[in-house]
Amino acid sequence: MCGIVGYFGKRPAQDFLLEGLKRLEYRGYDSAGVAVLQNKIANRKNKKDEILIRTVKSVGKVSELEKKLNGKIEGVIGIAHTRWATHGKPSEKNAHPHTDCGGRVAVVHNGIIENYRELKDVLEKRGHRFRSETDTEVIAHLLEVAMEKLPFEEAFVKTLKQLKGAYGIVAISAKDPGVMLAARLSSPLVLGIGSGEMFIASDVSAMMGDVKRVVYLDDGEITVIGNDGYVVKTFSHRKREKEELALERDKTVAEHRGYPHFMLKEIFEQPKSFADALRGRLLPDDGMARLGGLRTVAKRLRSIDRIIIVSCGTSYHSALTGEYMLEEYAGIPTEVEMASEFRYRKPLLDKKTAVIAISQSGETADTLAAIREAKEKGALTIGIVNVVGSTIARATDVGVYCHAGPEISVASTKAFTSQLAILSLLTLYLGRQRGLSLVMGQRIVRELARIPKHMERVLAQAKDIRKLAKKYAKQEHYLYLGRKYNFPSALEGALKIKEIAYVPAQGYPTGEMKHGPIALIDPSVVSVMVMPRDSVYEKNMSGMEEILARGGKVLAIATDGDAAIVRKATDVIFIPKTLEMLSPLLAVLPLQLFAYYVAVERGYDIDKPRNLAKSVTVE
Ligand code: AGP
Repeated sequence: MCGIVGYFGKRPAQDFLLEGLKRLEYRGYDSAGVAVLQNKIANRKNKKDEILIRTVKSVGKVSELEKKLNGKIEGVIGIAHTRWATHGKPSEKNAHPHTDCGGRVAVVHNGIIENYRELKDVLEKRGHRFRSETDTEVIAHLLEVAMEKLPFEEAFVKTLKQLKGAYGIVAISAKDPGVMLAARLSSPLVLGIGSGEMFIASDVSAMMGDVKRVVYLDDGEITVIGNDGYVVKTFSHRKREKEELALERDKTVAEHRGYPHFMLKEIFEQPKSFADALRGRLLPDDGMARLGGLRTVAKRLRSIDRIIIVSCGTSYHSALTGEYMLEEYAGIPTEVEMASEFRYRKPLLDKKTAVIAISQSGETADTLAAIREAKEKGALTIGIVNVVGSTIARATDVGVYCHAGPEISVASTKAFTSQLAILSLLTLYLGRQRGLSLVMGQRIVRELARIPKHMERVLAQAKDIRKLAKKYAKQEHYLYLGRKYNFPSALEGALKIKEIAYVPAQGYPTGEMKHGPIALIDPSVVSVMVMPRDSVYEKNMSGMEEILARGGKVLAIATDGDAAIVRKATDVIFIPKTLEMLSPLLAVLPLQLFAYYVAVERGYDIDKPRNLAKSVTVE
């Protein structure tokens, strides 16, 4: 939910800190700040040189902080933070970094300190003065107390042991300026190894182009960064050997590349990202899929008799589509659970259950908690994740990466279609072991290979979709409707226009309308109906008639050449014909574009919508 960066090296810390914050701003952007260890300066009073910590913070986006900094602040060691508020409203005083009473310690934090209230009460009784309403500030004051008797590293660990909750923390101290400390418990932190300089951040996008090798911290680990590099230890100071992974992606990848917003770029990347998800994984002759990530559990997968998919938001919608695929073509009972609910149920799982976690970021706290619950109960856990090396990718027994490339915009688009690609491959993989015929398998493979071209044709209608968005730009009430494979498409379309255009939109199964929601229909309501030529087409036509008969407007997503719908619906957007199970891959594109263009018409911040963050790493 927040972005953390730290720099320890030879260059002005501010350069990396600001650039890193900009790249992490999609994780939270209501306020930001930096704290830099100032080089030795003469202390006017006692003429003694000393090291100070200079902190600059601002409310609003990183660009506001940059303006406030107005040039260089001296110092080659510093930390910085861009915030998504959990405790205390977005304000300058609640922005991180937070310092202790004497300004000798500075910390940045991503997560939630659940016992901060009682800690704060004790500290205030000891005379500590708090400047903010945040939970984070208690960390700085606890460090201050511990450092009265202990060196920085020991004081840091002593402080961690008093905290309950989730955190990624980075701290610096003017009393021990040669060290930067960081700790991870449930909120991601990655170390970047440069030549003679070290970087640390919430995720690798902050350091792309600056480092070639990274180390991912795991829960219960601290890292001590100093002039001779870094050491990773446990909370009981035991050294830990960590694998240094190559960081492939280059700096350019996180640029708009000529698009006005990351969201539009990522929508148009889908033909390529979908093809990347399939690359090397289709076996046309055998009508099969090759999923190397499942190789070690191939035998166990044959005995799986139940699948549960846990995920959130857009990833929950792709999971719902996967449920239809897996039951229809792999013949495995499948249920989908919102991770935030699953984790509080007492789910009945066993070793013949496979629990699949779908997550673009691989850091969603609820999904991670659900997976941990599943592992404890002996289920086989499988990740369908986009970010390589992310926590969920490493927490699951096995997994399949989406290879969609970095998805920067808060509104998830290419991740959705890449997840559907992996779910289609998984359906083939499991189905062909369980009676799915060679002929059907080959047909699915052929149709999958055609999807990128079909996507290009849909995206080529962007101008027409933009016209529709202008027409409906002021529309305040939408229903998004679909059946079977496209019920999740309807949910996803509704989520998109909610989260970036702030329009109240409800997604329903079309068949559910007559059980209540049809009471909403009148000329002020637009029903976006996903109704390609599929096994439920006639039912959808009746649903549309019922809405039109009550004066409602219908924007239909229909199969190319469907003249019947043109005669009836208020407006139509066409998609190419494909297998029913693959139609959501095409139906979702106009829904993404429609939401995007409505938000543009309304003048909202597309990539950083209000109240949201890209990765929900808190519960
Ligand atoms: C989707 O547009 C939202 N940004 C949000 O619902 C997101 O899909 C959800 O938070 C899950 O994120 P994840 O896929 O990274 O786990």
